[in-house]
Amino acid sequence: MNLPQNGHGPSGSESRPKIVILISGSGSNMLAIADQVAAKAPDADIAAVISNVPEAAGIQKARDRDLNTLVINHKDFASRDEFDLKLMRQIDEFQPDLVVLAGFMRILTPGFVRRYEGRMINIHPSLLPKYQGLNTHQRVLEAGDSVHGVTVHFVTEVLDDGPNIIQAVIPVSAEDDADSLRQKVQKQEHIIYPIAVKWFIEGRLKMDKGKAWLDNALLPDSGLQLEA
Ligand code: GAR
Repeated sequence: MNLPQNGHGPSGSESRPKIVILISGSGSNMLAIADQVAAKAPDADIAAVISNVPEAAGIQKARDRDLNTLVINHKDFASRDEFDLKLMRQIDEFQPDLVVLAGFMRILTPGFVRRYEGRMINIHPSLLPKYQGLNTHQRVLEAGDSVHGVTVHFVTEVLDDGPNIIQAVIPVSAEDDADSLRQKVQKQEHIIYPIAVKWFIEGRLKMDKGKAWLDNALLPDSGLQLEA
């Protein structure tokens, strides 16, 4: 199937770029993006919010916003491949310009990643490439780091490893614990994720040659860094 890339056309809902958001949990990043889209920044449609977890709180929040929601429970599938195939078919029905992973806690198969490469982004609660994987806040504390943060990046086949787009950096204080860091990081997530979505939908952000580009300029390996 030939999918549109970053399409822009005359105004009207039919021609607006489409976003599909994948979640597994509380959906606070999905809401932050939905708020910006509702304010037409960017001017796009959220075609669907899809969760692999039926009881994910984010699904109800999306319904409360009258967003189109779908649950595809990964436990209903015998293998990772079968689940990803079903998810892919479902996503493709919406012909999205952008697939947004917003707390989607699944390891993706290579075929899935390749299908959306260059138009799928993720948010991860660390200053990637540091602390890929889980428990990032605790690991930052145990390492005694003086700074922590969050990264939005393009998704490639290696987990938490695609080119960085934007990072927010936060100071770590002696009083911080994993919960306070999580709260500080989430506050920044809700700022930087909508920015990255807006850049992409406006055609300013691209992945090319395995790197992230903004306004045709190569972004630094860290992505654009914002100090909180
Ligand atoms: C966010 O903190 C996000 O960075 C993290 O899951 C949380 C989802 O929160 N993602 C990852 O750890 C991905 N590796 P939300 O459901 O409230 O948006």
